[in-house]
Parts: sequence; C-alpha cells; structure tokens
Amino acid sequence: MNRRRFVYSSAAVGLTAAVTPRALFAQAPTIMNSKSIKPVVISSANGNKFKNGGDMTCVQKAFSMMTQGTDVLDALIAGVNIVELDPLDTSVGYGGLPNADGIVQLDSSCMHGPKKRAGGVAALEGVRTPSLVAKAVMEQTDHHLIVGAGAQSFARGLGFKIEDDLNTEESRKLWLEWKRRTDPSHYLDPQKRAEAGRRVMMEMVAEGLIDRQHIYGTINCDGINAKGEICGVTTTSGLAWKIPGRVGDSPILGAGLYVDGEVGAAGSTGRGEANLYNLCSFLIVENMRKGMHPKDAGLEACRRIKGNTVEKRLLNNKGNPNFNINFYALNAKGEYAGVSMYPSASYAVCTEKGPATVPCEPLLEGQPED
Ligand code: GLY
Repeated sequence: MNRRRFVYSSAAVGLTAAVTPRALFAQAPTIMNSKSIKPVVISSANGNKFKNGGDMTCVQKAFSMMTQGTDVLDALIAGVNIVELDPLDTSVGYGGLPNADGIVQLDSSCMHGPKKRAGGVAALEGVRTPSLVAKAVMEQTDHHLIVGAGAQSFARGLGFKIEDDLNTEESRKLWLEWKRRTDPSHYLDPQKRAEAGRRVMMEMVAEGLIDRQHIYGTINCDGINAKGEICGVTTTSGLAWKIPGRVGDSPILGAGLYVDGEVGAAGSTGRGEANLYNLCSFLIVENMRKGMHPKDAGLEACRRIKGNTVEKRLLNNKGNPNFNINFYALNAKGEYAGVSMYPSASYAVCTEKGPATVPCEPLLEGQPED
C-alpha cells in the first residue's frame, strides 16, 4: 500500500497518533484522481473560435482525441496546432502579430502531469507550431527551455520546417500601420514608449484593426481524461510589437502554465509581465493543492497581481491594474474555471456535452484601458 492510500485508509478507520488532521488535509487532494473523472478540456476563448478550414475547434479536437485514447498532452497540442496554423488568429503561431522589427517571435511551453515532464521554447522564429518544438524539448532533451537562435537550430535539427517569415499579409499590414503611427526610437525611455505604444494600440483597437484580446494574444489549453491524467500547453506570439527578444509568461513554467498531475493545471493569457512577477499558474495550483476551488484559486491570483501592481503607468485612475489578465484552471476532480481581472473575457470548454464558450469570473468591475 503506498503512502497516499495509507493516509486515506487511516482517515476512514480513525486517526492514529502519527497522522495529524493537518497532515490529512495536506494529503487529501492527492487522492482525488483515484476516482472516475469526467473528461474535460478548457482553453482561452480562441480555443473555441478558429478551425483553420477544418471542422473542429481546438477544444473539440483535443477532447475528441483525448477521449479516444490519445495521450492527453498530444491531444491538447493537436488542438492548439489548429490555432497556431490558422492565419486568421493574429495572436498565436503563423500570422501572429510580430515584434517591433516586424519579425514573428513565438513562445510556448507544455507540461505532462503523469510523466512529470515539461518543455518550452522562447523567441523562436520560423516555426509555425512552437508547441511541437516545446514538446520536443520535453521529450528529446534533459532541459526545460531553449530560446532564440538555439531553439530554431534545435527545431531545424529535428526536421521542423523553418520559414523566413511567419507574417501573413494581415499581420504585416498591421505592423506597418503601427510603425507608421509610432516612434520606436523611444525604446530607451520606457515611459514614453509605454505611452506611445498604449495610445497607438488603443487607437488601432478602437478602429477595429486589432482585436483587444490579441494585444497579448496566446492560447492556453488544459485537459484531464477519465483516468485523471492532467496536462497543459500554452503557445503565443506574445505582446504585439514587443521589443525584439522580449519573452512573456507563456514559456515560463509556473507563469504561463503549471501542471501538477496529482493536483491540477493552470494557464494564462493577457499581460505576461504581471504574471511573470507573480508566478500565478504555480500559485493557482498550490492553492488548489490546499483545497481551493479553481475559481477561488484563480481569483486569488488576480488579487495577488492587483496587490503587487504599484507602478503608476500600470494603474488606472482608480488605482487598479490598467490591463487585463485571464487564468484557466482545472483540478484533479475535473472541476474547472476561467477568471479574469476585468469582465468581458471568456473561455472555452469541451465536455461530453460538446463545446461551449463561458464568461470568465472577473475580480474587478469596469474595463482597463489596454
Ligand atoms: N501572455 C502572453 C504574453 O504576455 O506574452
């Protein structure tokens, strides 16, 4: 009998002197996945929007493959590949909004709960599906993160197709418009650059040129199968018009994604810097380990970000964060939630009942300015 089962059995027959109530509480969530689980896949809202000419969205594809026996992570990655390859999604993979030099740089990470393995790539150029390169890092190296030219060289060596340019006509047109309206020489003055960048970005959002959700883009997708196996993947083109080499939260374990196979999974979209500072996916999983519901754990992460956001340029006139950020979380019981700093975000779910898009639970009222 392993230790977990021993602790559980001990609870059933009465406490021994060696097993305190505190120890039992700490152990309790680790037995959740011994029960039969209703499989579920959750993702950011774009996971129920794009089909790349096929007949399934990301969450549908991932759910269908997962429930037919495909490894959970392989199923999730097949799902996000649809969005990475779809030229209509300007926030992820091929056709993602480029950096300030007009070059598409992609970040991704994946975590496999049962195998306790993880991989990631950052600032990767020329490969449409960075999630597959992240998986190759996980499976074929003993590293967790490979970046920049090294990541491209690694991908080339494994036979991934390397392209000169991942822009679509649309992403290039939007970048040229941004170039026309801003002065990138302000890189060395973060205040001026932030002001100019925010102003132009909001102009372009207001004019319908950019989807607000695509400023930081990203898709996070997490799933649990009937055996209770939990995995997750996050992939993005990152912040639109970012300083070349800027890496967000998506490829960083504990920030853009965290999975503990015995507790749950959490991932994020939205302002990566806020998440990097607070390592919220890890925080959410740790709070679920203590027994919090995914929704409460997610809202607690939003509260942590709110509390730690003190720079004036990041605050609105109410002293609240002037940006949105979203978290998606599921636990080992198959309970799940999507939460956001502000209303109007949504997330995608696929269960045996089919796919749905559901509003995220917001922490604050109103809207950020970016
Ligand atoms: N959350 C995506 C990014 O900030 O790059």
